[in-house]
Amino acid sequence: MKKLVRFSLAALALLLAAQIPNVSLAADKKLEVFSWWTSGGEAAALDALFQATKKADPGVEIINATVAGGGGSAARPVLQARLAGGNPPDSWQTHPGWELLGQYVPANYCEPINDIYQSEGWDKVVPKDLIDLLTKDGKTYAVLAGVHRGNNLWYNKKVLEKNGIKVGDKMTFAEFFAAAEKLKAAGVTPLAVGDAGSWATAQLFENTLLGTVGPQGWTDLFTGKMAWDHPKVKRAAEVYGKMLAYQNADHSALIWYQAVKAVIEGKCAFTSMGDWTYGEFAKAKMKDNEDFGWVSHPGTDGGFIIVADGFTLAKGAPHRQEAITWLKVCGSRDAQEAFNSLKGSIPSRTDIDKSKFGPYHNWSMNSFAKDKLLPSCVHGAAASAGFRQAFNDAVATFVVDKNADRLVKALAQAAKEAEMAK
Ligand code: BGC
Repeated sequence: MKKLVRFSLAALALLLAAQIPNVSLAADKKLEVFSWWTSGGEAAALDALFQATKKADPGVEIINATVAGGGGSAARPVLQARLAGGNPPDSWQTHPGWELLGQYVPANYCEPINDIYQSEGWDKVVPKDLIDLLTKDGKTYAVLAGVHRGNNLWYNKKVLEKNGIKVGDKMTFAEFFAAAEKLKAAGVTPLAVGDAGSWATAQLFENTLLGTVGPQGWTDLFTGKMAWDHPKVKRAAEVYGKMLAYQNADHSALIWYQAVKAVIEGKCAFTSMGDWTYGEFAKAKMKDNEDFGWVSHPGTDGGFIIVADGFTLAKGAPHRQEAITWLKVCGSRDAQEAFNSLKGSIPSRTDIDKSKFGPYHNWSMNSFAKDKLLPSCVHGAAASAGFRQAFNDAVATFVVDKNADRLVKALAQAAKEAEMAK
């Protein structure tokens, strides 16, 4: 009898769910979010979004689908296999620009979410430049939870103080090399790199490239107006090679956040990395301007390499209604304030309370407002997946052979194959 009652209740629930669209059964009230946020700072920030989602959608069970590795280089192939196999997560992390609009949208994996932008009033509070990076043919395909700045040089303040090194508002390559020499002489490893995933050293090259060609050169390279084997790109490779001479010996065994840990522990002095690094410092209870400091990567003052984190709505999302609530939370003011304080990025909304953020975030918000905004290649916004891969591969080869001519040749060839030149 008991069995029968249970059965008929389940049947009734199924019947109701079939008849009322967008109402999930309690047992089916799930949400699967895919990302590569697994480091200490990343996981803490992701959890802030999840907590806000649970508040907005009581009873929802969140499936936290992550693939470790940083930068998404290990996660994206797993995601791609799921998408191609018709088994999408409800929502996944993506970078705006090429990665979203050139990869996922043409393959028909995402639903446009313009109606959410309208109902939530996001058009009024998110800069148009950012919305444009998420929009194709008038359809917007993701909401940004935050905007990272990619071109930062971070340092352990106490280590520099101990060695009599002062960093000003900006830094030249000459100043960096002078500091590196001093540190080396004192037995401190000047530069921490964790390129177990080659994207991390590719990011060091990306930052050095911007520092050498400048914002206009950057735009010209990615729009085909400047050749990738231009002498300035070769110069960037040489400077990058010189920086590598100061990196930790175990760089290829470390993940990016282990390199940050070496800075936290004072084993290394500097690391050039996006501001997800801030999340690791915060998790280790390090304080802005006391325990750690930052400056634009040498030569890149005045430029802001955008590495923004968006979330999509999967076409055929298994839990569509929960996914919509999740996206609304990602774009909300409260959740963006909580998430970005932990993640290191700045909110994509401009109506947030700046006083809730510390010195680093205010510095970055200020840079975002006044500097040239440039898309990242390593993080998928500036060029196709094919070019990005070729870029990372060419850099990985350079780490071993230090051959600048070969590097620029490989980049020029990749640009040709990607039909980057106009
Ligand atoms: C993402 C960041 C992330 C970083 C390291 C970047 O591609 O945009 O959110 O923290 O990779 O994993």
